Amino acid sequence: MSSLSCENINFGYDEREILQNISLSISNGERIALMGSNGSGKTTLSLILTGILEPRYGEIKCDGVSPFDDENNFDFRRRIGYVFQNPEDGFVASDVVREIAFGAENFAVPSDEIRSRVDELLEHFGLIPWASKSPLTLSGGMKARLAIVSALATGADFIMLDEPESFLDWHGQNLLAQSMDEIRESAGIIHITQSPEFAKMCDRIYRIENGKIERIEPAEVIDYIFPTSFESNIADDKIIELENISFAYEDKTVLDKISLSVNRGEFLGIVGESGAGKSTLALCVANLIKPACGKIELNGRVSIVFQFPERQLFAETVLDDVMFGPKNLGLNNPDILAKDALKLVDVREYLWNRSPFDLSDGQQRRVGFAGVLATRPEILILDEPFASLDFAGMDNLFHLLEELASKQTTVIIITHRTDLLEKISPRTIAIKDGSIVFDGDTETLLQNAKLCDKIGLRNTKNSVLSTV
Ligand SMILES: Nc1ncnc2c1ncn2[C@@H]1O[C@H](COP(=O)(O)OP(=O)(O)OP(=O)(O)O)[C@@H](O)[C@H]1O
Ligand SMILES: [Mg+2]
Repeated sequence: MSSLSCENINFGYDEREILQNISLSISNGERIALMGSNGSGKTTLSLILTGILEPRYGEIKCDGVSPFDDENNFDFRRRIGYVFQNPEDGFVASDVVREIAFGAENFAVPSDEIRSRVDELLEHFGLIPWASKSPLTLSGGMKARLAIVSALATGADFIMLDEPESFLDWHGQNLLAQSMDEIRESAGIIHITQSPEFAKMCDRIYRIENGKIERIEPAEVIDYIFPTSFESNIADDKIIELENISFAYEDKTVLDKISLSVNRGEFLGIVGESGAGKSTLALCVANLIKPACGKIELNGRVSIVFQFPERQLFAETVLDDVMFGPKNLGLNNPDILAKDALKLVDVREYLWNRSPFDLSDGQQRRVGFAGVLATRPEILILDEPFASLDFAGMDNLFHLLEELASKQTTVIIITHRTDLLEKISPRTIAIKDGSIVFDGDTETLLQNAKLCDKIGLRNTKNSVLSTV
């Protein structure tokens, strides 16, 4: 049986030590969860175990082979697959079959062997109906599944998964849970996650904190729930009015005659399966795309924090990045606005002069958020704001939302985390196939098991992830 291990690893990107004396070992067929706060070093450790980053001290071995030994380097890499947080980042081919074959071709696996591996994997993971489709057109859950399968096709004995569940809807999370169960026989998994449910599916759970790693018991893994709920502070005037707006990408209708009105200071949740049209609706409200027909009236300045706010980053330093928005809008004292926003999202001062690209994913996400907050929008749209945040980040976000409510900011939140939404947004709309199929009380929606099922929503806290 194969095994992958590291021993007494020390690592730092600069003089700061990120990982100290880390040892970890995993056998083929095992599943390990790697937890820890944002910036604690989870992704860094996974990149070291993959042989992408070289530690200052310590050893990494896969069946005695080291990634830093030039002769065996190739063999090591073939054995370890990496699934990015956003699987799209790893896709290169124009269809599913080529995507699965690509990795194996790169590792010079003979072509008849590739063909039989691809056929077997397509069948085993239920991908045959998608074989000729572009990977980019699959749903989030299927993309995660395809990324895992493509890693397996290279003959990987171990697969690193960096929070693949964080943007998946309920159906996608179930698919991911099943896929991970199905590969138990073929490969070992190291799953970086903030999700207690996914962590508890693993054989062992580890937590990285302050550079050290420790094994923890499932009972020590608790979920974050918002401490209390808070009242929105709703005014009488309408700040958003949509009348019969429709939108299509090429010939596919994504929004079909949507009408919606939102009052100043109101919090509105938007739910629905991936691909339902939630983000497209948000882009229309934010004035970033124009609907084909219909009317949009906005009575306030609107800003949007995208699903991957880190992709909004571009400046040389964190502070410059956050200052860009208020400067661009000609607001007074952009530096003060930027610093206030960074403090609000809890990005510590020692990071302000760093390049935003040298931060962890969670830290980058907070900086992207700060850049939007610094423009002091009257309407704030948040696309999956709870993804990948640790406990402190969640708590911080809760208080931030509470403060925005007290200032009568209108907040629209797109999320799959209905348990959290329930606490902060009394009103939710559900979208299915481009139409609003529910507009009303969040609680009423979540109690309606039949409707939740129809729109692919997790309805109660009792529903559990299904594995095979
Ligand atoms: N390229 C880089 N250059 C310098 N510092 C970096 C770089 N990448 C990450 N860091 C720093 O290393 C630390 C660990 O980052 P890492 O990405 O491993 O954290 P993480 O646990 O995966 O966090 P998250 O939950 O936010 O994804 C952070 O303090 C981060 O700022
Ligand atoms: Mg990370």
